[in-house]
Amino acid sequence: MATEQQTTGASADSGAANGTETLTVTDNRTGKTYELPITDSTVRAMDLRQIKVHEDEFGLMSFDPASTNTASCRSSITYIDGDKGILEHRGYSIESLCQNSSFLEVAYLLIWGKLPTQAQLERWTFDITHHTFVHEDLKHLFEGFRYDAHPMGMLLSGVGALSTFYPDAKQIKDEEERYMAAVRLIAKVPTLAAFSYRHNMGLPYVYPDNDLSFAENFLSMVFRKTEAKHIPKPELAKALDVLFILHADHEQNCSTNAVRGVGSSDVDPYSAVAAGVAALYGPLHGGANEAVLRMLRRIDRIDNIPDFLERVKSQEEKLMGFGHRVYKNYDPRARIIQEHMPAVFEATEYNPLVEIARELEKQALADEYFTSRKLYPNVDFYSGIIYEALGIPTDMFTVIFAIPRTAGWVAQWMEMQEDPEKKIARPRQIYTGERNLDYVAVDDREGPEKIVGPPARRPKRPRRGA
Ligand code: CMC
Repeated sequence: MATEQQTTGASADSGAANGTETLTVTDNRTGKTYELPITDSTVRAMDLRQIKVHEDEFGLMSFDPASTNTASCRSSITYIDGDKGILEHRGYSIESLCQNSSFLEVAYLLIWGKLPTQAQLERWTFDITHHTFVHEDLKHLFEGFRYDAHPMGMLLSGVGALSTFYPDAKQIKDEEERYMAAVRLIAKVPTLAAFSYRHNMGLPYVYPDNDLSFAENFLSMVFRKTEAKHIPKPELAKALDVLFILHADHEQNCSTNAVRGVGSSDVDPYSAVAAGVAALYGPLHGGANEAVLRMLRRIDRIDNIPDFLERVKSQEEKLMGFGHRVYKNYDPRARIIQEHMPAVFEATEYNPLVEIARELEKQALADEYFTSRKLYPNVDFYSGIIYEALGIPTDMFTVIFAIPRTAGWVAQWMEMQEDPEKKIARPRQIYTGERNLDYVAVDDREGPEKIVGPPARRPKRPRRGA
């Protein structure tokens, strides 16, 4: 078979020029050979397009439905080595940041790329602290929700609604507008999160307290009752701050991908971050911490663990809080959370679910089913236990995840704005439907008697006042 060599016009510095950093592909349909440049251990999907049988064809595409092996951007924010269990932000290990830093400092690091100087940190902290209030009309928006509305649904609406209060944020090329959007999002998401909790509890909303730290202020907005000032125990504020650091960013996860995907349309950052909140809501992503607690409660006793694991192995159940798309080793965040559990339990009541969680982990990690699939505890396995010890109800767990992740979403959104390769995200598809059908008049259509439509109504969940 004749071999025809074609190249993709690789740039001289790509490594393709010396003939080593390339991938040679032979299309067995035509016998043609192509040489594709390899840069940063990737080939460009667009380089495949030249591979075709006939000149007038579209050309070869790559198929990767869950983006399991596709890099969607270049980023210098977060580094993960999933096999070794390493997580770093801007080059600093998560262990070192949790030990030495604070959430607001890490948020600065993520967004601006460097640890702040003392003056920069003071300005940043001042700006965030002085933008924690939300417009009173947002309070009225929250009052419109049903008493039992899921707080994540309320947060999602609240973040989306912020875009209507700050229409100038649409000027996404304006650096000052970007800065203000970053500050407002990080500052106001905790306030909206706390309002969603107070709404569920039927309690009056508590306004931010500018004398408190970021984590203390959130706890105050959640728990303050009649006292003039609510100052949380330092151990609890510290544990929450560490949890905030641990959740601040995690490179191109489902919600960050949503923020970048939606943000690529040049929509304002509030709307892009609202997309991130929606993605985080799902039980396979941020909703997993809530699912873990419900699972531990269902298991109820250590004696029930073997039966539960059997059900997981026969795929009747999922072991929530285990497994990760990227980590094929122990999630470093889960290890750090465990280190903080004793201090939290000392300052609160001991949570017996921790025994079930620890035994469940032990038995799962001794089982070939989990080890052969490289399933280890992820960040959500233990975080819910700490939230519960802090007195936070299960429905609020994902909301709390959204507070620090807002910093990551903002950082990733900012980075995307500066990316010279930024374009509107628009994947291709493999079309599997029919084509060129002749339209059939309704009287001439044939088909089964059964109506294609919604299934029979299920009884409604009882609602107060419904
Ligand atoms: N329990 C039981 N089996 C599992 C689990 C689990 N938690 N996770 C993966 N598996 C099995 C899966 O069934 C598959 O088995 P097989 O090869 O026999 O078909 C194998 O392990 C590989 O799993 P996968 O579904 O291909 O892995 P994925 O990368 O697509 O999914 C995941 C990653 C996180 C969605 C998944 O592990 C999962 O659903 N875990 C439980 C939910 C959870 O804890 N999510 C929080 C993730 S960390 C925080 C965050 O990012 O938001």
